[in-house]
Amino acid sequence: MTHDTIIVLDYGSQTAQLIARRVREAGVYSEIFPWDTPKEQLLALEPKGFILSGSPFSVYEPGAPTLRRHVLDSGLPVLGICYGMQLLAHTLGGKVAASQAREYGPASLIIDGNMPFWAGLPSTLDVWMSHGDRIEAPPPDFVPLAHSDNSPVAAIGNPERKIYGIQFHPEVSHTPRGTDILANFAVRICGCKPDWTPGKVIDEIVAQVREQVGSERVLLGLSGGVDSSVVAALLHRAIGDQLVSVFIDHGLLRQGEAKQVIDTFKRSMGLNLVPVNATEEFLEALEGITDPEDKRKCVGEQFIRTFEREARKLGEIAYLGQGTIYPDVIESAAPDRPNAQRIKSHHNVGGLPIDMQFDLVEPLRYLFKDEVRRVGEALGLPEELVWRQPFPGPGLAVRCLGEVTWERLERLRAADAILLEELRTAGMLRGETSQAFAVLLPVRSVGVMGDGRTYGETVALRAVVTDDFMTADWARLPADLLARVSARIVNEVANVSRVVYDITSKPPATIEWE
Ligand code: XMP
Repeated sequence: MTHDTIIVLDYGSQTAQLIARRVREAGVYSEIFPWDTPKEQLLALEPKGFILSGSPFSVYEPGAPTLRRHVLDSGLPVLGICYGMQLLAHTLGGKVAASQAREYGPASLIIDGNMPFWAGLPSTLDVWMSHGDRIEAPPPDFVPLAHSDNSPVAAIGNPERKIYGIQFHPEVSHTPRGTDILANFAVRICGCKPDWTPGKVIDEIVAQVREQVGSERVLLGLSGGVDSSVVAALLHRAIGDQLVSVFIDHGLLRQGEAKQVIDTFKRSMGLNLVPVNATEEFLEALEGITDPEDKRKCVGEQFIRTFEREARKLGEIAYLGQGTIYPDVIESAAPDRPNAQRIKSHHNVGGLPIDMQFDLVEPLRYLFKDEVRRVGEALGLPEELVWRQPFPGPGLAVRCLGEVTWERLERLRAADAILLEELRTAGMLRGETSQAFAVLLPVRSVGVMGDGRTYGETVALRAVVTDDFMTADWARLPADLLARVSARIVNEVANVSRVVYDITSKPPATIEWE
């Protein structure tokens, strides 16, 4: 590694990932580890500093996570955020007190003293507080650096030892200058070079992949989604024709999607791409299935079977490329986080075939989603691919309620294409909506067109706004846009006589209908 690294120690905060993302936005590489990660593992990264995250615990609670000696013994700069600050104060002999009232929400921070930690920042800052305990007195040799109405000591520091603590959360968007504060710590205090840029990320990943795979071949299941597309472009840059990509068209893609993937990767980028049209097999397997979970399982199994068959035709391949991204890695390493209840079985294209032996190549393993997109852009992938909204692995099978037939899929594709086209024209496909699509319902209703009676199916439009897809609100699309989409669908798509708009948030509904 040729970049400087800041380690975030996760004490169970909801926003530990955000801390690392903000540090990276400041151009400095950052990784997250559970607070009790062994010393050797942390120091192997040759970090330039540590950030201690917040926590749901109070430092006085039995079983509260502690500050391991090796963090301070390393002599490296440390920044404690919220619980992290209280932990520093508690460990170093300051006074932490349980506050009567929990302080939660916006606060005005008044900076005391002028030092590199606050460089470039105004003397009063809007910050976000969320804490119960607070610092009554800083440890010996520490000075108070800021206060707010409710926190007489809202920041502390020992500039000589380069140890700092802040009571507020610089990582959340409610602290508008938060990234500058984290940048000050990483760059001015820790001395990191802010050179973690997409170009550098690409160079490092390319070098790592070349070293890992040597002259072996790598197999990749390309779905056309953001992650697998960026993996394809990166691996192609690294190893050229040693990458063999298989693109399975299961007939459940949106209008024009299969062609776009083949045009982009095979024609423009010259990838060694094997397109497989498996539509008939998938539709045959789905025949008569209407239960949502059964559909998901059917598509998943069929996918693996097809992928295995195509892979066998390609002969012995040592490696399998995967689009694992950093949040997946952190989730699987995180302590004390019971697995959330499975609401729907998720199927991801490119999933590991059951009885084949591969070593994995995971070039996006250390990247957050926004970094994946920026790397994709830097690699020259088309904008509509890089900024594509998420699309479920089982594809239109879970948006075509009732039985999945070719005729109904075509109806759904036509309606969906109209919605997307109108949103794109209105500039609402990127940002204004996080995900927008049409759903075909097996519900027929009476309509009138010209002098005739119609009795066609129903199209439901779904558009949501969300940051994380765990919760979502329905998008308040302009009424005239909805009117245009509705009129066009009923006029242009045969056998649809009604269009409705889904106004349910998540929870209680999910984003997809199945
Ligand atoms: P739900 O419907 O659970 O969807 O609210 C949350 C997000 O996940 C996407 N989704 C999937 N993505 N494989 C995927 O890769 C799947 O099986 C799958 N099912 C849902 C959904 O589109 C939304 O963005």
